Amino acid sequence: MIVIKSEHELQLMREAGKVCAEIFKGLEDLIKPGISTKDIDDYVEMTCKKHGMKAAEKGYCGYPASVCTSVNDEVVHGIPDKKRKLKEGDIVSCDLVVDNKGYMADACRTYAVGKIDEEAARLMETAERAFFEGVKYAKAGHRLREISKAVQKTVEDEGFGVIRDFVGHGIGSEMHEDPQIPNYVCSGPNPRLQKGMTICIEPMITEGDWEVDILDDDWTAVTVDGGWAAHYENTVVITDSEPEIITL
Ligand code: MF3
Ligand code: CO
Repeated sequence: MIVIKSEHELQLMREAGKVCAEIFKGLEDLIKPGISTKDIDDYVEMTCKKHGMKAAEKGYCGYPASVCTSVNDEVVHGIPDKKRKLKEGDIVSCDLVVDNKGYMADACRTYAVGKIDEEAARLMETAERAFFEGVKYAKAGHRLREISKAVQKTVEDEGFGVIRDFVGHGIGSEMHEDPQIPNYVCSGPNPRLQKGMTICIEPMITEGDWEVDILDDDWTAVTVDGGWAAHYENTVVITDSEPEIITL
């Protein structure tokens, strides 16, 4: 069941989205060689608190931190760790969900640590561009699969792989609501989008194959072939006209 949000609910989500955007801005300065992924977690937690909001990932299905920090071949759900120091040339995806009075916004950015190589830069740029190609179809009257198709084409035209094991999703009073939004074309529900729906479009892409393993911490998803991964996500409100991206 897809939940249509009221104007009041959308307002709470927009406020949460602004805090996501503020955090991403702050992370641009924070992320450099030598910091640990736990430093990122502390910053996310502190900034949510400062606004009287909560980092919704903490405790979600037992997840132990306020943000997912996935480095290099880690695709999603990397757990912040003070022993995990970032070094020049790494890339780190920071995926976070802010909860404002029970209503959420979810977004992710991948950051370069110092100077990175050209292939990694192209991977990051492609994940972001795939989001913006997909969101063109996030309009009332369009069907969900048009988003998936645009994302997949953007990624595969660059010779990169699209993760199959994790997908985008609806969001609101729950972090994960219907509909699921795969980043590739497959069978499954293909609803028409309607005003008041709120969705997370989140290309997760790899240099090589899309197959993933889960590490012994039961969370961190890594590529099987060791290729690096990038992830870019925003929460989007379907309106009468243009999509409203609330986490930019
Ligand atoms: N923010 C992730 C998403 O994009 C979910 C993180 S799972 C958690 O859907 F357990 F870390 F919360
Ligand atoms: Co998400």
